[in-house]
Amino acid sequence: MDAQYRSLNGKTVLVSGGASGIGEAIVRAFAAQGSKVGFVDMNAEAGAKLAAELGSNVHFETVDLRDVPAYQAAIEKIRAKLGPITVLVNNAARDDRHTIDQVTPDYWRERFATNIDHQFFAAQAVHKDMQAAGGGSIINMGSTSYLVSDDSFAAYKTSKSAVIGLTRALARELGPHNIRVNCLIPGWIMTERQVTMWLTPEGEAELMKRQCLKRRLVPDDISSTAVFLASADAGAMTAQNFIVDGGWY
Ligand SMILES: NC(=O)c1ccc[n+]([C@@H]2O[C@H](COP(=O)([O-])OP(=O)(O)OC[C@H]3O[C@@H](n4cnc5c(N)ncnc54)[C@H](O)[C@@H]3O)[C@@H](O)[C@H]2O)c1
Repeated sequence: MDAQYRSLNGKTVLVSGGASGIGEAIVRAFAAQGSKVGFVDMNAEAGAKLAAELGSNVHFETVDLRDVPAYQAAIEKIRAKLGPITVLVNNAARDDRHTIDQVTPDYWRERFATNIDHQFFAAQAVHKDMQAAGGGSIINMGSTSYLVSDDSFAAYKTSKSAVIGLTRALARELGPHNIRVNCLIPGWIMTERQVTMWLTPEGEAELMKRQCLKRRLVPDDISSTAVFLASADAGAMTAQNFIVDGGWY
């Protein structure tokens, strides 16, 4: 990443789903800015390995975000370790495919717990820290998946579309406290999971036809935008959706 934001030096940042994929790139990017980074993930092994690599300004808590009280307790531990949280990146989600007939009521609710509920409860858990500090930045990860017409996986797409509504509601409620809330919407980003599970030669050929930019997008394309949105340089930006998709949508 080219930019170094002085405003992020020493800030405490919370990242969900930070052990792999885009979340890992976001953890690394904030650590490189001199921020203190607390991150949570259910992948205990990958999370511990990343935290050990990045040193004492980075702290990891193992938690399943579908368990809201457990997530609230993990946030409390991160606050005790790293100080008041003034940047939140709500990143964790799962994009498992399903057809209409495979979805049960339990699966539908579980997908919402995985993809959207924790975004609200993390914001609820940190907004007072931000208020006391005179402001903060919340970045909610959306997805272009419901905007582009590709495979159908309705529970994921519906929960991801709700991120935009949540972003605008929180931006309005928290704006008077100088807390900015934005939605960062990735296109198809070639994480290990995407390449292993979903990318096919046909899919990639179609993507390259539709993207304006003819290259694979990578997690650092998203982490650099997240860091910018958290910085003072984005100080007037709130209640917006930022699509980073190489011109796919
Ligand atoms: N990769 C893409 O192409 C793409 C496209 C659009 C949107 N996004 C969004 O970007 C964000 C990151 O996606 P990614 O591709 O890096 O995903 P990923 O699956 O590679 O990583 C997600 C991380 O979240 C963790 N996680 C998932 N469920 C959890 C739970 N219940 N509790 C704790 N941790 C949990 C996983 O262990 C993993 O480390 C997501 O919000 C996703 O919807 C990604």
